[in-house]
Amino acid sequence: MKKTASQSKSKHKLKSRSAKKPKRISSFSARDRIIRLINSSLDIDKVLHLSMLLMEKTLNATASSILLHDPEKNELKFYLATGAKKDALKVIRMPADQGVAGRSLQTGRTLLIPEASKSPFFYKQVDEKTKFVTKNLIATPIPIRGKRIGVLEVLNKTHGTFSHQDMLKLKTMAAEISVAIDNARLYDEVKHAYIASMLNMAKAEKYRDHDTGMHIERCGEYAVRLAPELGFTPRELENLRVSMMMHDIGKVAIPDAILLKPGRLDPEEMRLMQTHTTKGEEILGRAPHLQRAVEIATGHHEKWDGSGYPRRLKARTIPLTGRLAAIIDVFDALSSKRPYKDPFPPEQVFKMLKENRGTHFDPEILDLFLSRFTEMREVYQGMA
Ligand SMILES: [Fe+2]
Repeated sequence: MKKTASQSKSKHKLKSRSAKKPKRISSFSARDRIIRLINSSLDIDKVLHLSMLLMEKTLNATASSILLHDPEKNELKFYLATGAKKDALKVIRMPADQGVAGRSLQTGRTLLIPEASKSPFFYKQVDEKTKFVTKNLIATPIPIRGKRIGVLEVLNKTHGTFSHQDMLKLKTMAAEISVAIDNARLYDEVKHAYIASMLNMAKAEKYRDHDTGMHIERCGEYAVRLAPELGFTPRELENLRVSMMMHDIGKVAIPDAILLKPGRLDPEEMRLMQTHTTKGEEILGRAPHLQRAVEIATGHHEKWDGSGYPRRLKARTIPLTGRLAAIIDVFDALSSKRPYKDPFPPEQVFKMLKENRGTHFDPEILDLFLSRFTEMREVYQGMA
């Protein structure tokens, strides 16, 4: 059947409408996904990094960055960056009143720079230091509660240059990103308060448990010293330290009659004493950001050969942090004076640890620990 002119026209209309549709969908879905991220994830860097990748995709940019304002030094520093030069950017700081970003921060305006080399505001030093060539960019301030805390930039459109439309989209995204930062900051405050109260509980507990002195602080320090060789990034170290410090937090739930009993524990008392691992899990497990602390609280009495407690986990089924904590905890206990025992001399501690290689302790982590034994002893003496 032949199509009428109006049928063809309306089909054409439909076609052009559907041809435009993906663009709108992608821009809205990017926004939706950012909002979903804000609600689902409160890890600030994860939120920001994913938001930036979505933003680049939506605007067809090849790189983006978030610069934060340091009011004390009146500088802008690259907080997060994507693209080929992201690592070089991390160390760069620039005066907060210079460059396109600086101008955007000062004036509160979103700036579209179609040709960076011709812009009087363009701050060439960043490109010179990173060997990145900025062709075009948009910079928009990040407002939080009436203050501009930094600037969001997208750089180098894949084809051509950024449009006015792109500028409006970036502005909207900056507002959403600022909500993410604000939420994450509030969450961070709550998180830090929670961690601080848990740490206080762990510190208070040591006075009840035969006053173990600086035991928990030292355990944190040994862990942080060894962690880089076990694959921990610098950003993970502080969390590891506090998590290690909380390894015996479950002892708060152990009655004095058992915890402070001078003699040997009978089997039932021993069973109850061993529940300090799972009690620790109960105490710490309510906070999603304390999962590492949970691993350590439950894993530090597991043994490599599967004869430990509470779950008789074996070898690598014990979390890495638990395997590390097992060595650290025993090393420190053997080295320390307790009401029921004198400290063992370092040579004997070394020997006792080595004798348990592959039975109690993870052989590889133990080898690392013993290779740094002198340093570990120094930590012990420095924090005795
Ligand atoms: Fe313990």
